[in-house]
Amino acid sequence: MAKSLIHISVKAQKDDIFTMPADLLAIGVFSEFDGKSLVKALDKKLGGAVEKVRNLGDFEAKAGKSCLLYSGGKIGAKRILLVGLGKRKDVKPDVLWKAASLATGKAVGLKAKSVVLSLHTDIPASAKPDMAAVGQAITEGACFGAFRYDEYMSEAAKKRPAKINAVLVDADLSVVTRLRKGLSTGLITGQAQNYARTLANRPANVINPVTLAAEAQKMARNIVGLRCSVLDEKQLAAKKMGGILAVGQGSVTPPRLIVLQYTPTGAGKNTPTVGLVGKAITFDSGGISLKPGDGMQDMKFDKSGGIAVLGAIQAIARLKLKVKVYGLIPSAENMPGTGSYRPGDIVTTFSGKTVEIQNTDAEGRMILCDAIAYAEKLGCSPIVDMATLTGACVVALGQKRAGVMGNDERLVERLKEASAKTGERVWHLPCDDEFVDAMKSKIADLKNIGGKWGGACTAAAFLSQFVEKAKWAHVDIAGPGVWGAGETDAPGSVGFGVRLLTSFVQDLK
Ligand code: BES
Ligand code: ZN
Ligand code: ZN
Repeated sequence: MAKSLIHISVKAQKDDIFTMPADLLAIGVFSEFDGKSLVKALDKKLGGAVEKVRNLGDFEAKAGKSCLLYSGGKIGAKRILLVGLGKRKDVKPDVLWKAASLATGKAVGLKAKSVVLSLHTDIPASAKPDMAAVGQAITEGACFGAFRYDEYMSEAAKKRPAKINAVLVDADLSVVTRLRKGLSTGLITGQAQNYARTLANRPANVINPVTLAAEAQKMARNIVGLRCSVLDEKQLAAKKMGGILAVGQGSVTPPRLIVLQYTPTGAGKNTPTVGLVGKAITFDSGGISLKPGDGMQDMKFDKSGGIAVLGAIQAIARLKLKVKVYGLIPSAENMPGTGSYRPGDIVTTFSGKTVEIQNTDAEGRMILCDAIAYAEKLGCSPIVDMATLTGACVVALGQKRAGVMGNDERLVERLKEASAKTGERVWHLPCDDEFVDAMKSKIADLKNIGGKWGGACTAAAFLSQFVEKAKWAHVDIAGPGVWGAGETDAPGSVGFGVRLLTSFVQDLK
């Protein structure tokens, strides 16, 4: 196996973007294209080349658009990438994130090893840019764009650079200093997101509950303040975690509950304890209620919620946030087999509540209900779970937006705030009484599927029954977790949720 993902370094430096030698200079362009901007200065140096591509209609300065020019020795960089930023008034960290990701993504294709990023320079003072937030967004975007998942491609290393050095450049040292503040945070979260993408992309014959648990332990060993213990099938049985055990019993690889614990230095009794819970089904065949074959290979991504939690707790610990965090990752492989749980089975969960199984493909909630109840027992509040839980959520919100449901308005609001900051989109959906009613069984306390309608809401309503007093929210990432990659240059996982959860925890302190 060729383990050779691209390495990216990001720095900030005081310099002149026109004289600096580089393989690629990426420069942000607002659609107004007026005034005393850096792009105008560039245009002058290039003898009107920027005007020319604009007039030809070859480049529109909209977010997501770009155009490659060759400098012909007129400036230090060999190539120039004009990157659209849209209208000045709409510029937000999210726009810069996308621009940076586009720039390093192109750099990979061009085999450019050194990239100068000048994306922030023309942001108008009236937009009152927080340069630390700008530096963070650009760094995170740069990390994202440079990622390719090619560890199993024999010839990969020949097709792209082994390392990309990106530099955020400004002529003003005080701006560089402010950019650097966010840059160091952005590197940690950007790397955590790419770590999550790598793991999520690994196939089910490589990542199973046992190897995932070993990976989590390996990660925790290298990070100060982070501990990882793993409950194996015997310990799960001793704790009466019937949900996790039921789902795992059809596979030759037994289930696990990964327990990550981050304690900041100086944590006192009053430091809040947050519980992050993530669904890690390493492969979801549907079990006895087998899924149709079409697209089943995507169900290796059914571990994405758990992996988002793993990535987030890595970032939280490396950022040394002042919050105690438990990361609970129940993991199982949902397979049909002689040992599988069946429709009709009644499962006693960790909470003591019983569940009638009506469909073995509604397995996510069966592993989450144990982990959520356990999180509350460990003293966590708030608890946020993240899961590729329902196809219904994708029907409702599409592939780019996660559904968020919960029992506390303020908690949902905080997740929406984290969403606005990171650009990882969420939308609030209900999960109250009418949906809880749909989950009542005639033969047990609950059943594991609701009726025909509101599948994302009934799934969340089911989970809500396993929380007693804690504040709890659920993020259904079936869309962005499984299909989110869609149109980027790097097929596969986009690592959705890592930045959302990290930003959420960061703002709790
Ligand atoms: N992992 C799936 C949900 C899913 C489906 C995520 C497609 C991403 C893309 C989950 O375990 C599942 O199968 N849910 C069922 C629930 C149903 C049986 C009530 C679903 O959504 O169809
Ligand atoms: Zn399923
Ligand atoms: Zn599933």
